Amino acid sequence: MEKPWEGRFTEKVDKLMEKFSESVSFDKKLAPYDIALSTAHALMLKKQGILKEEEADKLIEALNQVKKEIEEGKFKWKTELEDVHMNIEKRLTEILGDLGKKIHTARSRNDQVVTDVRLYTRENLNEILSLLKTLKVEILKKAKEYIDTPFPGYTHLQLAQPILFSHYLLAYYFMFDRDEERIKDTLKRVNVCPLGSAALAGTTLNIDREFTKELLGFDKISLNSIDAVSDRDFIAETIFCLAMIMMHISRLSEDFIIYSTYEFNLIELPDKLCTGSSIMPQKKNPDALELSRGKTARLYGDLMGILTLLKALPLSYNRDLQEDKIFLFDAVEVTKITIKIITEVIKNIKVNKDRALKLSKANYALATDLAEFLSKEGIPFRDAHHIVGRFVRFAIDTDKELDELSYKDFRGFLGKYKETLEKKYSLEELEKIYKDLVDVKKAINRRNVIGGTALNQVKHVLKLLEEKENLK
Ligand code: ARG
Repeated sequence: MEKPWEGRFTEKVDKLMEKFSESVSFDKKLAPYDIALSTAHALMLKKQGILKEEEADKLIEALNQVKKEIEEGKFKWKTELEDVHMNIEKRLTEILGDLGKKIHTARSRNDQVVTDVRLYTRENLNEILSLLKTLKVEILKKAKEYIDTPFPGYTHLQLAQPILFSHYLLAYYFMFDRDEERIKDTLKRVNVCPLGSAALAGTTLNIDREFTKELLGFDKISLNSIDAVSDRDFIAETIFCLAMIMMHISRLSEDFIIYSTYEFNLIELPDKLCTGSSIMPQKKNPDALELSRGKTARLYGDLMGILTLLKALPLSYNRDLQEDKIFLFDAVEVTKITIKIITEVIKNIKVNKDRALKLSKANYALATDLAEFLSKEGIPFRDAHHIVGRFVRFAIDTDKELDELSYKDFRGFLGKYKETLEKKYSLEELEKIYKDLVDVKKAINRRNVIGGTALNQVKHVLKLLEEKENLK
């Protein structure tokens, strides 16, 4: 097939080279943006008197026809025509004859392709923003459902202190909220129009770049044509934003995988997002979560891929850049579907409240409360820590939880401080104090600092977030 650029060539392109260099198999995704771009370009050429009115009108009509053919699946994509741009242009010339070729006046595929990719990126980042919003809203709803449910809190994956499940879940709200902010910031650099930069130096024709920028909804035009055709920072940045979202999702996935095991038994995953084993009839595997965790690797690969593609690439456009779309498209598709799946997980999980309550106070999780009480009574924290440490040892040896013991058991470990305490409080008062100190709900509510897990603090934060997300 005859190529639009074949004028200076005497030899036909090698078949293997055709196969090697084509991008239409993946960049046909850009067709809607390419057609929007060409339509805006034709309108500008008409306004500037570069194309006659009826020429531009016919081109736009034909572009609409091509768009329809593509949407209806009737368009015949040809790999011999390399990429999406040349496929569409070739079809225009089939429809319009020589006039079709005029669409490529005052532009190059170099500014065309990067403008298409910017339009694609803008649309998809906006879609991802709305998916993130839905995810955040589901997190808020789930937090509300379990607003006062005690849950074990971990550090080093060792039971540390009791928290509220709502507080735990809101931690993820904040991660996704930062992801949203990051995307909004990235969009400022995505939404810049390179069209008119042509191959790398601009064009001798009298174009109006502001006009096409407006028609295509860009915020600004690029001011350096060399940078404009070779800049792919916005792709690297976009993939970074998405990799960060996936990293957050992978942490959530890992938590839920662990929490849903038989051994932890803290949450129940919805059957519809799990699968069974082909040999073990009893199995219910957390595949949605495992795949989310696994697909995060794809994003890191995409990020490393785009950065490597750009490393030491001389200015300006080089054909290497054709590969940018492989990483971008993969990152976008994987992130979109993973956010959707994780949103379903959040919507459908159930907390096993009895087990959560039991674990939240297990393993002497309230020992810190005892030590902090002693330090409030004037006992140096180091001594308090030591006293409680020895008491915990005693509890372990006698196989008792802290709430199965009493002040009577504790006082023997106080040493010289026993007298101080018992001078100030009666034994009865100390029994009551001890009981309160090892009560989970009270312990949670004692973490009454801004950002802490006390119920009133979490309620306050939840209310702020609901307002922020325009809920109720
Ligand atoms: N398919 C190419 C790409 O994606 C379009 C630009 C080709 N430009 C060129 N000078 N060969 O980068």
